[in-house]
Amino acid sequence: MKYILDVFRRYLSPYKSKVFLTFFYNILGALFGAFSFASFSPILGVLFGTQKMVTDPGPFVWTSIESIKMHLNYFVSELVKASNPADALLLIGVFMLVMVLLKVGFTYLATYAMIPLRNNVVRDIRVSLYNKITNLPIGFFTEERKGDIIARMTGDVSEVEASVMNSLEMFFKNPVIIIISLSVMITMSWQLTLFVFVMLPIVGYFIGRVGKSLKKPSMRGQNKMGEILSRIEETLTGLRIVQAFNAEKAVQERFYEESNDYRNIMNGLMWRRALAHPMSEFLGTGVIIIVLWYGGRLVLSGEESALSPEEFITYLVFFYSIINPAKAFSSALYSIQKGMASMERIDAILSAESKIVDGTNVFPQEGFKDKVEYKNVSFKYNPNGPYILKNVNVSIKKGQTVAFVGQSGSGKSTLVDLLPRFWDVLEGSITVDGIDVRDLTTTSLRDLMGNVNQEAILFNDSFYNNITFGVENATMDQVIAAAKVANAHEFIAATEDGYNSTIGDRGSKLSGGQRQRLSIARAVLKNPPIMILDEATSALDTESEVLVQEALDNLMKNRTSIVVAHRLSTIRNADLICVFDKGEIVEMGTHQSLYDAHNVYRKLVDMQMHNK
Ligand SMILES: Nc1ncnc2c1ncn2[C@@H]1O[C@H](COP(=O)(O)OP(=O)(O)O)[C@@H](O)[C@H]1O
Ligand SMILES: [Mg+2]
Repeated sequence: MKYILDVFRRYLSPYKSKVFLTFFYNILGALFGAFSFASFSPILGVLFGTQKMVTDPGPFVWTSIESIKMHLNYFVSELVKASNPADALLLIGVFMLVMVLLKVGFTYLATYAMIPLRNNVVRDIRVSLYNKITNLPIGFFTEERKGDIIARMTGDVSEVEASVMNSLEMFFKNPVIIIISLSVMITMSWQLTLFVFVMLPIVGYFIGRVGKSLKKPSMRGQNKMGEILSRIEETLTGLRIVQAFNAEKAVQERFYEESNDYRNIMNGLMWRRALAHPMSEFLGTGVIIIVLWYGGRLVLSGEESALSPEEFITYLVFFYSIINPAKAFSSALYSIQKGMASMERIDAILSAESKIVDGTNVFPQEGFKDKVEYKNVSFKYNPNGPYILKNVNVSIKKGQTVAFVGQSGSGKSTLVDLLPRFWDVLEGSITVDGIDVRDLTTTSLRDLMGNVNQEAILFNDSFYNNITFGVENATMDQVIAAAKVANAHEFIAATEDGYNSTIGDRGSKLSGGQRQRLSIARAVLKNPPIMILDEATSALDTESEVLVQEALDNLMKNRTSIVVAHRLSTIRNADLICVFDKGEIVEMGTHQSLYDAHNVYRKLVDMQMHNK
C-alpha cells in the first residue's frame, strides 16, 4: 500500500488530470453497464409472461426505489399494451444495445486516457535512471554491474509499468464497477447481498495468499537476468579473445548454467502464479453455487418482499459483473508484489549516493594561473584493501610537462584520475592554484582539463559530433582547425560525407590511430589549460604512433600537461619525470639527471632499448 502511494506520488502526480479523466469515464462506463444489465429483468418478465402490469405508477419520486421500479414496470406495461410482447422485447433489446454501446464507449475512453499515463511513467522512470547514471562517479560501474543496470532499466521498468497499470485499475476502475453493481444489488435484495458480502472476503483471502510469496523469487529472477545481460555484453566485447582461445565451449557452458538458473527461478515463480487462476475459478464457481442456493431459497419462499425469478437472474448478472473486477484485485496484488521488487532495484540506483558531490562552500575556479599540487596524497579503492597511492607529493607548474612512468599497476592512472575527482583522495590533498579541488565546483574543475586515454572513447555519431562533444556552439571552421592540429582532417575529409559521416559503433570503422587522433581533436577543440594524457599512444603500432605523437605534441604546446607514458622515448623532453613504484614516487628529475643517476629510471630505459 505504501509502495503504491509512493509510486503514485512520484510518478503520477504530474498527470493528475489524466487520472481524474480515467476515473470519470470509468464511472460513466459502469453506470451504463448497470443500465444494460437492468434491462434483463423486463426482458425475462415479458418473455415468461410474469411481467407485472402496472396501470398507475403514482407520482414519480426519484429517491424511492419502489417508485422507480413502478415507473419502469409501467413503461414496459405500456409498451406491451401498445404493440405486442414481441415488439416490446425488440424495443427493450435495442435499449440494452444502446446502453452497452455507451458502456464500451466510455470504457474505451477510460483506457484511452490511461495509455499515455503508463507510457509517461515508463519514460519518466527510465529517464531519471539515465540521468542518475550519467551523474554517478566512475567507480560505481564495475563490469559486472553494467548488465545489471541494463536489466534494471528494461525489465524492472516494465514490471513497475505493469504494476502501476494494475494499481490504477485497482483504484480507479474496479471499485467503481463494484460499488455501482453492489448498490444495485443491495436495493434488489439486501439479505442476499449481505450474504455475498460475507462470502467474498473469505474467498479473496485464499486467493491473496498465493500472491504473498511472489516478491522474493521475482527479485531473484531480475537479478539473474542482470547477470545474464552482463555476460552477453562481456562476450560481445570479448568475442575476439573467446575465439582466439578456443573458449567457445567454456563460455557456452557457463551461459547455459546461468540461463538454466534463470529458468529454474522462473519456473517456480510461474507455477505459483499459474495457481491463482484455477484456484480462483474453482472458488468462484463455489461462491456462485452457494449464492444460487441461498438466493433460490429466497425466491422459492414466495414472500411478498422476496425476489421474483427474473429479478433473481438479473441479480446474478450483476453479481457476475463484480466477480471479474474482484478477481482483478488479486492479480493486481501479484503484479504489485513484483513491481515492488523491481521498484526496490530501481531505487537502489536512484538513491545511490554520489560521494563526489559539490560541498556547500564550493566556488567556481576561473582559469589556471599557477600550479597543481599533490600534497601527501594517499588513496585506496577499497577501504579494507591496500594503499594504491602512498604519500605522493608532486607539484606541476603552469606550462610544464610532467610525466609519470613506472610498472603497470603502480598507480599512475589512479593518480591522474584523482585530479578531475573521478575519485577523491583518502588522505592529503590536491590543490589547483592553492585551492583544494574539493572546494571547487566539479564543473569548473573539469572545465580546466582535457583527457586523452589509452582507449579512445567515441560515440556512435558523426565525426563532427564526436569532436564537438561537450563543446557548445563550435563553428565548422573551428572543428576543421582542431582536426588539422590532431592530424585527423585528412582521413575525415576522405570519407564519403566528410565530417557528417558516422563513425560506427564506438568507432569500429576506424583504425586505432584514427580513433586516437579523433579524441585528440576533441581535446584540442575544448582547448583546456591542462591536458591529461594517460598512455595515449601505448595501444598503437609504431606507424600510427608517429602521427598520433605529432598530434599530441601539437596538443601539448603552450599547455600544462600531465603525461603518463609507457614508451619512455615520448617523454624525454618533459620538465619533470616522476618514477612510480607500488604507489610511491621513488625518483624525480629530468631525463638526463635520472638517466645519469643509474637507478630505477635508467633500468626502465635500458630495458626498453633492449626490447627494440
Ligand atoms: N576501480 C578499481 N577498483 C579497485 N582497484 C583498482 C581499480 N582501478 C585500479 N585498481 C588497482 O589499483 C592499482 C593501480 O592501478 P592503475 O592506477 O591503473 O595503475 P597503472 O595506471 O600504473 O597501470 C592496481 O593494482 C589495480 O589493480
Ligand atoms: Mg594506467
